[in-house]
Amino acid sequence: MKAKELKKKYIKFFKEKGHAIIESASLIPDNDPTVLFTTAGMHPLVPFLVGQPHPLGKRIVDAQRCIRTQDIDEVGDDIHTTFFEMLGNWSLGDYFKKEAIEWSYEFLTSKKWLGLDSKRISITCFKGDKDAPKDNEASEIWKSVGIPNERIAFLGKKDNWWGPAGETGPCGPDTEMFYWSPNNIPAPKKFNPEDKRWVEIWNDVFMQYNKTKEGKFEPLKQKNVDTGMGLERVAMVLQGKTDLFEIELFKPIINKIKTISGKDITKANKQSFRIITDHTKAATFILGDERGVPPSNLDQGYILRRYIRRSLRHLRLLGVDLLSMDTTVELAKVVIEIYKEDYPLLKQKKDFIFDELKKEEDKFQKTLDKGLKEFRKMVDKDSQITAKEAFLLYQSYGFPIEMIEE
Ligand code: GLY
Repeated sequence: MKAKELKKKYIKFFKEKGHAIIESASLIPDNDPTVLFTTAGMHPLVPFLVGQPHPLGKRIVDAQRCIRTQDIDEVGDDIHTTFFEMLGNWSLGDYFKKEAIEWSYEFLTSKKWLGLDSKRISITCFKGDKDAPKDNEASEIWKSVGIPNERIAFLGKKDNWWGPAGETGPCGPDTEMFYWSPNNIPAPKKFNPEDKRWVEIWNDVFMQYNKTKEGKFEPLKQKNVDTGMGLERVAMVLQGKTDLFEIELFKPIINKIKTISGKDITKANKQSFRIITDHTKAATFILGDERGVPPSNLDQGYILRRYIRRSLRHLRLLGVDLLSMDTTVELAKVVIEIYKEDYPLLKQKKDFIFDELKKEEDKFQKTLDKGLKEFRKMVDKDSQITAKEAFLLYQSYGFPIEMIEE
């Protein structure tokens, strides 16, 4: 099943359960000064999670584009990206644990919907701490739908707690669903959450607390449900794959990098392929957003600059001559082609996207030329780079520390 069909099915399933459909909000949140990007579907919904009535009712379903820069160092493995789409169903003070879990199970396993093998599913629940009790209620509901005891693990806040999106706000314990990804190895009877072959595909958050400035967790006025299903990851398991970058939302970008670089993927360069793929996609979406910003040294513009420059750095590592073409523009064209139906704004804003990418490539090239000249001078002087010199290269010439290391 392709991601597009999965998205359609998800929306249809929750529409049948009485949810109203809302559009993906901007990648740049307008009511949350504590974060630069929409990291989850909850950002645009915070006012409704704390009690304001939503005009479309108490049940909402959406597919939200997200950027999680905190995962940037994990990009390079099989399943992490910083840009992704998240499918979510929301109860704004309406249904709670029972319906949320039963519907998650039904959507995942029913032949009418995804038809995933229930014998390859494992679950985590919140183990409890001083702020909130152990979530036995969630685990009992999982057992009642057929998940055996040995496939349920209890973990702490680091793993089974979601939110707030920024420093303060709505949050709560969650229960997470994992799928055994390898096709050729049977799923172990007992769930080991440390085993990376169990891939997290969905979480149901029981958002019933408000985290205060003082770090206290107070009960919210209403009990909400916020679920988050990673579109790309579920498409991956539905397609029987263990590498996210093999699905249709990434593969054409990977192929374009192959063409541009003339290289095939090897163990040594795989990480570069994946970083370039994720970062050029994120950059295209930031520029092509309704609140899109150009690269700069501030806030979202700074992150965008880092995305573009990091892609360029990895393209150089693959041996691409940056002067030979506007490489990131070529990659952005592929990104737009993949997403043009779901996000028509990307196409409408393509000139802005291409212009800004091109300008940033030129700027980076100049930075590299100047920085490299200074770098040579320093090395010629005494065959080394001191920490002070490295700082000067970065501070005065914008020459990245990673380039100095290389
Ligand atoms: N549903 C919470 C999240 O993962 O974004």
